[in-house]
Amino acid sequence: MAGSESKGDLPDGAGCIPRHVAIIMDGNGRWARQRGQPRHAGHRAGVESVRRVIEACVEHGTEILTLFAFSSENWRRPRSEVDMLMELFMVALGREICKLDKNNIRLRVIGETSAFPQKLQRQIAEAEARTADNDGLLLQIAANYGGRWDITQAARRLAQQVASGELDPADIDEACFARATAFGDVPDPDLFIRTGGEQRISNFLLWHCAYSELYFTPVLWPDFDKETFAEALSEYARRERRFGQASEQLDKANTG
Ligand code: IPE
Ligand code: IPE
Ligand code: MG
Repeated sequence: MAGSESKGDLPDGAGCIPRHVAIIMDGNGRWARQRGQPRHAGHRAGVESVRRVIEACVEHGTEILTLFAFSSENWRRPRSEVDMLMELFMVALGREICKLDKNNIRLRVIGETSAFPQKLQRQIAEAEARTADNDGLLLQIAANYGGRWDITQAARRLAQQVASGELDPADIDEACFARATAFGDVPDPDLFIRTGGEQRISNFLLWHCAYSELYFTPVLWPDFDKETFAEALSEYARRERRFGQASEQLDKANTG
């Protein structure tokens, strides 16, 4: 559980294959511009990359994939682009849900979805219910998600529990806070990938990426393929995750 490790233990994802991969899928607009096409062509092409990365995760044995599809700041884009993204989300969900279900994938949409059109909210609820019992890859789509929103809603939730007498403020520790976040029931991301060349977090998993390995690639999201994913995994396997310990301590643990 996120943040629940005791201080001496290392999280489960500290092995060679990341248990949880989170991706900021960036670069759709630039991909389209390079081809003289409108931005929506890039978003459409990006859906193919989503399909590829899901397959790659299943092949490599990654258990959880979290994709940043729409940030709480993306409402600032032109109305036509926002509408197009909502429409694309609905169409892609409608088209893919059968296949996701057949492949034993559990879908979860995380974020302030109440701001979405009613039809999309219904579709999300149906897709989540349909795949709820699947125990293969957990696919989490962060939609209208912001790391600051998540931390704020967790604080509000805990404050409500304190106000109603259910929770003693003295019992609020990191594990308790982590559980109140929208990703509170899954381990933190081991590998955090951003495509498109920018080296920033853009308000994604602020609480949860405290010890994630960050991987930035210039590859634009519509060009992201299994090879790019495998490169990220190779780089991840070369990293030494110390979680505050000294390198020598890890060597000793590895050699017994
Ligand atoms: C990411 O691609 C998709 C979303 C944010 C929805 P962009 O649309 O940000 O592509 P660039 O950064 O303009 O190239
Ligand atoms: C981050 O990409 C959000 C998603 C990929 C959904 P942006 O393209 O919105 O990020 P900034 O604005 O360049 O930081
Ligand atoms: Mg962008």
